[in-house]
Parts: sequence; C-alpha cells; structure tokens
Amino acid sequence: MAKKTYKDIPRVSEAVDGGTPVDHVPPGDLGYERIPKEKYISAEYYEQEWQQMWSKVWLLGCLERDLEEAGSYVCTEIGRESVILVRQQSGEIKAFFNVCPHRGNRLVESGMGETEELFTCGYHGWQYKLDGRFNRIPNAELFPQGKPCDGLSELPCETWNNFVWFSLDKNAIPFDEYMAPLKKHFEPYHFDRMVMTRDVTMEWPCNWKTSVDAFNETYHVAATHPQLKWYLDDMDIQIDCYDRHSRYLVPFGVTSPHIDRVPEVPPPLKFMLTEAGLDPAEWSGHVDGIREAVQKQLREHAGAEGRDYSDLNDDQLTDDYNYLVFPNVTFNTHADHLMLFRHRPHATDPNKMYFDVWMLEYIVDEDEMPEYRPRHKFHEYGSKSLGMVIDQDGYNLPRVQQGMNSAAYDGLWLGDLEVRIRHFHKTLDDYVSSDIEVTEVEDEPTGFRSLIQKLVT
Ligand code: FES
Ligand SMILES: [Fe+2]
Repeated sequence: MAKKTYKDIPRVSEAVDGGTPVDHVPPGDLGYERIPKEKYISAEYYEQEWQQMWSKVWLLGCLERDLEEAGSYVCTEIGRESVILVRQQSGEIKAFFNVCPHRGNRLVESGMGETEELFTCGYHGWQYKLDGRFNRIPNAELFPQGKPCDGLSELPCETWNNFVWFSLDKNAIPFDEYMAPLKKHFEPYHFDRMVMTRDVTMEWPCNWKTSVDAFNETYHVAATHPQLKWYLDDMDIQIDCYDRHSRYLVPFGVTSPHIDRVPEVPPPLKFMLTEAGLDPAEWSGHVDGIREAVQKQLREHAGAEGRDYSDLNDDQLTDDYNYLVFPNVTFNTHADHLMLFRHRPHATDPNKMYFDVWMLEYIVDEDEMPEYRPRHKFHEYGSKSLGMVIDQDGYNLPRVQQGMNSAAYDGLWLGDLEVRIRHFHKTLDDYVSSDIEVTEVEDEPTGFRSLIQKLVT
C-alpha cells in the first residue's frame, strides 16, 4: 500500500468577516529550472541586487512603540546604509539617511536613542532639527559658498500596525500598493497591541537569501527539526503566492504525516492542551482531535480571559500563518504572539548577513502594557543559543553557503514544497536584471577525474 502523505485534517477554517483571507492562491506555473547559485555568492550580483532591488523596495525599520516621544529615534542598518527613524513634534515619524552632509560622518550610533530637539554631528558640530533641516553650522562664515543642501536627506516613511517602514527610494511606489494584499491579512492580529519581549541579532556567515529560504519551506523540517514532527504537520500546508509576497499555513497541534503511528499523546501536544486550560490526563480522544479541541477551548474561554478572538478564524488560534514580506521579513503570526525574523544583508560581503529575531506578545489590557522593553542584544555566530529550532537552522546555513561556493554545486534544485523560494526568485528577478555569468554544468571531466582519464588513455 502506498504510504500516506497527507492526513485528513481540515487545513483552513472558514474566513471570518473582516478577518484574514484564507483563499488558496497557488503560485501558477513557475517551472522547475535550477536557480543559479551565483545569486547567492557573486559579488557582482550582490551589487546589482543592491542597486536594483534593496534601493527600491519598502523595508521594515522598527516598532512604532519604540518611538514614543518627540525626539525618540531608532537608527537601523541595511546593507551599506544607515537610516534614522525619528518622532517629530507633530507626532509623525520621519526617516533620514544617517549621514552628515558636511563630510559624511554618521550622526548617531545604531540602535535606539533620544534627543531633546537636535541632532549634533560629533565631528564638527553641524546641527539638525528633528525634521532634518539645518539648525546651526559653526563658523558659517567659513563657507562663502553657502550650505551644501537644506539638511538631512529624507526618505519615504510609513507607519502601520505598530511597524515603521521606509524606502531608500525617494520615488518608491506607494506603501499600500507595495504591501498588497497583506494589510488585510495582518490587521486582524492587532500587532499594535503587541509589545516586544525579545530583540536579538546574530551575525550569520551566509547570504541573506540562504536565511530567507530556510523559513520559506517546510521540506527541511523532518530532517532538520525532527522534534517538530510531534507537534506540527509539515506536509499538509497551504501555500499562497501573491504579487511580491507569499505565505504558508502550517497546522500546529497535530503530528506530522511522517509519523505512522502515534501510541499516546506526545509531550508537546500535552503541553498545548495544558496551555489551553485542558487536562491532558483526561484526553481520551484520538490525537488528531487535539488541534480542534484546543481551538474550541480557546474560542470559548477567550472572553473570560479578556481576549477578543472574534477577528480570527479557528485555525489561527493554533496554527502558524507564516508570511514573507518581500524581500526580507518573515512573520510567524499567531493569535497571541508574533515571531518576526528580519534577514539583513551585510554591507559588502554576499557570504554574511544579520539575522534579527523580534518576539512580540499580545497584551490584553492597555493598562498592563510594560513600561520597558528588553534591550537589543547582538551575538557573534554560534556564541549564544537562539532556541533549539533556530539553532538547528543556524547550524545548517553556513554549511549551505560553503557548499554553494563549491565548484561541485550548480544551483538550487527545488521541489514542490519549496515553491515559495521559486516565487521569491521570480519577484527578485522582476527587480534585478542581471548579466552575471551562470555556471554551466561541465560536460568535460575536470581536475582529478581529467588527470586520471589522461593517464589511462
Ligand atoms: S562631518 Fe558632520 S559636522 Fe563635519
Ligand atoms: Fe527550520
């Protein structure tokens, strides 16, 4: 008998009114071509990618909650650029290149900060108001030619649902057009009611896309994260691809089709029952019924806990709706928390990147909002655990990058469960018209094989 690959588990609940759409949007025919490895390792492609893609798209900058007062700012790095996001006296948020127009000094250090009213460059003391305009140039008479410009170089900036976004392109397409259709998808989660509980960055020795890819497919789950097969269904997922962005819906609270027999309720599912307020010792049904029971329990008791789940469908109470906001933000959305990964490119090296982890939790009562948030932490690769699952991914990625740099490797050979990676590359290609030379598979024997052949003929 053929091995069963998919379980009989309802994949997607009905959408609720005004809730996250659940329609299946298949990727269309993206073919089965190999994805050239040069996109991950070539310095030339890296430059083209910077000029044609990073400099055009909308990018996630920070949480709006981190810019509470006029003068609160966050300085975020992306590739070779550094950007200041700062709250104005008027309440709006503006974005500026973190560059002093005098001699190019960085105005502020990376991270969060506060300023009363002015940014003062540490090199020669040029001063800028919060809106970027000049305030004072010391000994201005030394510049008979006048000022070089009006002040700091401003960038498009948008605030939405607790997140602040910017673009390095002064003529970027409208934010809503760029994000479509995800605003409708995300708003039911109320990220604006969430607070940061973890803010960590680790430098990873791999291309930023190598990292994005690892969170765009569940094919690797069985081999890389074997412990998850007792907790989620890595095969029976709905994959949806939009213009630029994509998602998959991963059922949690079930066992993987990779498990043939489940003798008793596995510990992770017992934990899930307990978390929902159900006693695992009293569970007498089939394991496949746990997900639905948890959904029902959460739905019925949400009111008592003060949590309003009316915008969310039943599956959203248990499952991971995993989105990629092109090009570099992974949203693992859940009813009560969000696990967000930002994959940032290194300034110059295609074999390095920065992996940001932001954990956010929903706060039911506005009065219970914590007054502080955890400080940002930076870790060198391998110096700290980011948790078992991310550590497992983090172990693979530098090895994948090394393998891609090998003469023996030609490019990504993707299967159907990896189709989001293919869709991602199609979007990337819409931005980057590259003339890099793609490595062809060699017909002629090379190296050691060729030497042997010469010796024996
Ligand atoms: S570089 Fe900023 S004041 Fe000179
Ligand atoms: Fe993974």
